[in-house]
Amino acid sequence: MRRILVTGGAGFIGSGFVRHLMCRKGFRVRVLDKLTYAGNLDNFPKHFWKDKRFEFIRGDIRNRKVVRDAMRRVDAVVNFAAQTHIDRSVDSIEPFVMADFVGASVLLDEFRRNPCGRFVQISTCEVYGSARTVPMAEDHPIMPQSPYAATKAGADRLCHSFHQTYGLPIVVLRPFNQYGTNQYPEKVIPFFFTQALADRPLLVYGSGRNTRDWTYVPDLCELVQRVLDVPASRVAGEVFNVGSGEEKNVLEIARAVLSYLGKPKSLVQHIKDRPGHVQRLVCNTHKTSRTLKWKTRTRFDQGLKLTLDWYMENRAWWQKIMRRKAFREFYDRWYRKTLGAKVAKG
Ligand SMILES: NC(=O)c1ccc[n+]([C@@H]2O[C@H](COP(=O)([O-])OP(=O)(O)OC[C@H]3O[C@@H](n4cnc5c(N)ncnc54)[C@H](O)[C@@H]3O)[C@@H](O)[C@H]2O)c1
Repeated sequence: MRRILVTGGAGFIGSGFVRHLMCRKGFRVRVLDKLTYAGNLDNFPKHFWKDKRFEFIRGDIRNRKVVRDAMRRVDAVVNFAAQTHIDRSVDSIEPFVMADFVGASVLLDEFRRNPCGRFVQISTCEVYGSARTVPMAEDHPIMPQSPYAATKAGADRLCHSFHQTYGLPIVVLRPFNQYGTNQYPEKVIPFFFTQALADRPLLVYGSGRNTRDWTYVPDLCELVQRVLDVPASRVAGEVFNVGSGEEKNVLEIARAVLSYLGKPKSLVQHIKDRPGHVQRLVCNTHKTSRTLKWKTRTRFDQGLKLTLDWYMENRAWWQKIMRRKAFREFYDRWYRKTLGAKVAKG
């Protein structure tokens, strides 16, 4: 039985990975999560709390003592913990520096003091900035365009330095855009879904022609498990892109959501572009497929339908979040006051 420490395991992707491991034999899961506005215990099925294979620690990855205790007797660490909403990073940088960079540095340093089998850092394609060549391979220049991306790039390169300096078994994954169930409703797909359902405008930055490469979270989870399963010598010190090669722009996504709900295209409302907005991200997955024998299984249209079905059937999950001050305040400040969009008060 391997015990995996999952930091940020109460968030969107982290909780998907926890649910993935809990459905498989041979894993114990210890979650360390601060429960920021994005962390959510409702992401764990009720029966987990009675299962001896599941442990939850509420704590901050910047707290050395908490991290040291959480790392005891684990076989691997997977770090999902971060502040993740780019818009919020444009609004206020400090939480991103503290969680994404300083937090990762504390985890790495404690891992150095007490190394276990593997440390997997969940980085992001945003570290590349807009594509200079497509598709984008792991050696694409690192030119982050938002404060979020810059702090993630710092942590990504810190992982590299820890492998180089201390020879530690550290692996960096750079997922391109992820979508699926349990995603906080400020992110584009659930945001469009919840807006459209309420006949509110789907706020689209600029032309809406910027593209992203989309992966359904269960496919990513399979890859993360594979990174834990293969011999360390195959992956230590390496960076792997995670993507599907399926490039969709924001307008296509808005229209797909509207068509799913039978709502008119006129709900799309173009607003001022976000400063530093990345135009294009397309993943080159050759290295990942070759080394880890992995590729996505779920086509975007299939995954999107599964995702939207889930949001339709789990209204209580997102309505509870959208009633909270943390959601309403940001929505109001960012869209109405900062970008001057004509939206009803959060
Ligand atoms: N969502 C995407 O499309 C995407 C794409 C590429 C990479 N990523 C990366 O994947 C990871 C997970 O992203 P997500 O979309 O699930 O994010 P999320 O915002 O849904 O979840 C982040 C989790 O981290 C926790 N957290 C934040 N600061 C913490 C701290 N200081 N200590 C402990 N816990 C803390 C939060 O409580 C939350 O549960 C992040 O590292 C993100 O950069 C996400």
